[in-house]
Amino acid sequence: MTVKIHDTPEVQNFLKAVAGFDQQGGSHRAKQILHRLLSDVYRLMDDFDVTPEEFWSAVSLLNELGKESQFGLLAPGLGFDHYLDMRMDAADEQAGLTGGTPRTIEGPLYVAGAPVAEGEACMDDGSDTDAEVMWLTGQVRDTQGKPIPGAQVEIWHADSKGNYSFFDPSQSEYNLRRTILADAEGRYRARSIIPSGYGVPAGSPTDQVLKLLGRHGQRPAHIHFFVSAPGHRHLTTQINLAGDEYTYDDFAFATREELVVEATRIEDAAEAAKRGLEAPFTEVVFDVELASTADPELQSRHKRPRALEDEAAAGKREPAEA
Ligand SMILES: [Fe+2]
Repeated sequence: MTVKIHDTPEVQNFLKAVAGFDQQGGSHRAKQILHRLLSDVYRLMDDFDVTPEEFWSAVSLLNELGKESQFGLLAPGLGFDHYLDMRMDAADEQAGLTGGTPRTIEGPLYVAGAPVAEGEACMDDGSDTDAEVMWLTGQVRDTQGKPIPGAQVEIWHADSKGNYSFFDPSQSEYNLRRTILADAEGRYRARSIIPSGYGVPAGSPTDQVLKLLGRHGQRPAHIHFFVSAPGHRHLTTQINLAGDEYTYDDFAFATREELVVEATRIEDAAEAAKRGLEAPFTEVVFDVELASTADPELQSRHKRPRALEDEAAAGKREPAEA
């Protein structure tokens, strides 16, 4: 049985009532967006002849996603995070704001208020003894190649099992999360451990959706960055380590060619000693170029709910020195 009722006056009037068009209160924008969204979904139900069973199983899936706080995980899987990036890239191009290291998705696992260090930080608490030491360094420059001293480099990444501190309560506070202020030459240095890639939890609602699409939920090993400096556009980005099975097959669509970085294994003891390390270790170099802007709004990260962000802003959590 296929019925097409979407375009009838009865349904069209019904949609207007559902979206509150005949009510004084509420938000005009919310009404417009909900009207469009519901209109499109109602049409889809006609076009695909959606059964009540299918509809209610979708409702149940949404409930499960909410219960497990997985909307933030499914969103990149369905390309929303990357689509927002594509829109911001297009807006930048329109405004003539080109150049600089490309942005890519933030993901849902940033935690505000990480310890601040000058020039160099040790990011791991030493408990992940299976992990290989990572020496992560780079220089922050403007698009003319001039170093930006004091640039703020916030770094966060997963441990050798693919888990993030705070969300993984077995890790110590702010493990593998630091804010490093670049030195006089715009350089930052971090001693950490090589992160592992990770997958969405097996059998989770996000996994169920991806399976229905015949897709996997794996991400390659990657490292997240916020980089900012006065007079420059705030950069949200991440690097994917070359050589991971999923470097070019990331379920979250974060990979960009310019952001794939070599991880170089160094076994020479003298080279290690130069960095105050013991061989073997893995070196990762990521230089960052920030575009200039006078617009203060573009100089800081856009607002979104983030773990501990309000607490960090209110100064309730005093970051300890790294
Ligand atoms: Fe991540």
